[in-house]
Amino acid sequence: MLRLDEIIRGSGKYTRKQIIALVNEGRVTVNGALAEAISQRCEPSWEICVDGEQVVMEPPICIMMNKPAGWLTATESQKEPPITDLLEPRLRHLFPVGRLDLDSEGLILLTNDGGLCHRVIMPAEQITKEYYIEVTGQFRPDTAQRFRDGLEADNGLLCLPAEIEIAEDDKSAVVRITEGKRHQVKRMAAACGARVRYLKRLAIGKLRLDESLKPGEYRPLTDAEIALIFQ
Ligand code: URA
Repeated sequence: MLRLDEIIRGSGKYTRKQIIALVNEGRVTVNGALAEAISQRCEPSWEICVDGEQVVMEPPICIMMNKPAGWLTATESQKEPPITDLLEPRLRHLFPVGRLDLDSEGLILLTNDGGLCHRVIMPAEQITKEYYIEVTGQFRPDTAQRFRDGLEADNGLLCLPAEIEIAEDDKSAVVRITEGKRHQVKRMAAACGARVRYLKRLAIGKLRLDESLKPGEYRPLTDAEIALIFQ
């Protein structure tokens, strides 16, 4: 089952903000009954109508973007520009799959497919995300072991076992985690004595960032590339 707003977003006609207003104004029905909330769970096959007109989902699209630093992983924002502003107008209704921090760069997926989004971010799927980081400070000698064991970061943040390959000069590393908790990589590094000053996501599952994409550029994924996420 998907959230009602994900299904309506899949029509490509409305932003999340517009959907919230439509539901609050009582203009959305689910199988003939007034919609309760944007978070209401629905099957895509159910009859969902806006102003009495049935919502038709567009064919699924998924793109990869090389997110530049300074852009917010969001579809709307008051302060920093949202990454959807980097898209051509016909793609601006796509929504990001998971999140990269404002100052982070690299692979981010955007889609109109709520089901795909769920599968990628659901903790149960345990999809590995790979990051390149540059740090200040010094990793403690037991860092790799603590990553392997699963460590506790600040505020009691419990992290599942992960991997870190620290470069010989101790200034950069490649990290692989299977979760997506808030600022997780930065917090795991901080728990081991290092402060992340640069972070770039390189891969989600076996899908790697197309390095020919300059920051801010994007391109559609093929079905074979989408399958790589789940391998
Ligand atoms: N972990 C972080 O700390 N930041 C990101 O942007 C992604 C993973």
